[in-house]
Amino acid sequence: MKNIADIRKEYTKGALEPNEMGDDPLTEFRGWFQQAIDSQVLEPNAMILGTVNAEHRPSSRVVLLKEITTEGIVFFTNYNSRKGRELLENPFVSAVFFWAELERQVRVEGRVRKISEADSDAYFYSRPRISQAGAVVSNQSEVISGREDLDAQMVALMADESIEIARPEHWGGYEIVVYGMEFWQGRPGRVHDRARYQKVESAWVKTRLSP
Ligand SMILES: Cc1cc2nc3c(=O)[nH]c(=O)nc-3n(C[C@H](O)[C@H](O)[C@H](O)COP(=O)(O)O)c2cc1C
Repeated sequence: MKNIADIRKEYTKGALEPNEMGDDPLTEFRGWFQQAIDSQVLEPNAMILGTVNAEHRPSSRVVLLKEITTEGIVFFTNYNSRKGRELLENPFVSAVFFWAELERQVRVEGRVRKISEADSDAYFYSRPRISQAGAVVSNQSEVISGREDLDAQMVALMADESIEIARPEHWGGYEIVVYGMEFWQGRPGRVHDRARYQKVESAWVKTRLSP
């Protein structure tokens, strides 16, 4: 195997001028997200979500961004999962997008709130049947002895398409209401560009950070 310490890459694809960026980070994020789509980033909506439990222990996992709102970003999950339980204990989260193809990172900090049941319904019923069935059969994050029960339940749920699969009450969306966001563009020699937005009272304050 190649020596891991020898794996290195120069970042040369872009530059970032915080003074030229707008006042609202979510508007800026929309633009970056569109560029990620246009650049055919693999899974541009995959973000690493960090939670911290009541014992101050962090944990992270990937979830998918499903909406950008005026105040934040939305993902969907099982409210009874480990992350769901941790969010009950502590609603403060971080999220990070890494778009290697663009040599970009976006960091997000915020506080989650559940979206409305109507909005969770709207997304759930827009999903393919197989994903709806998956949400029903999985007690996400519980220990199980095998996948036979899951597979059998999936077969049963997929068998009759005339029977609607109802959204489980414990499955739905969270909106991360954002109070901090950072845009990062890789630059040569590790002298990267960073633009940070922080919400101070109700206004966004934008600063440039040292790489
Ligand atoms: C690319 C990718 C996308 C994922 N999207 C979601 C998602 O949108 N919602 C979700 O609950 N889990 C998603 N997962 C699974 C989570 O990473 C995680 O395994 C699961 O949510 C259980 O996490 P928890 O035990 O910390 O609650 C995704 C995983 C990957 C690798």
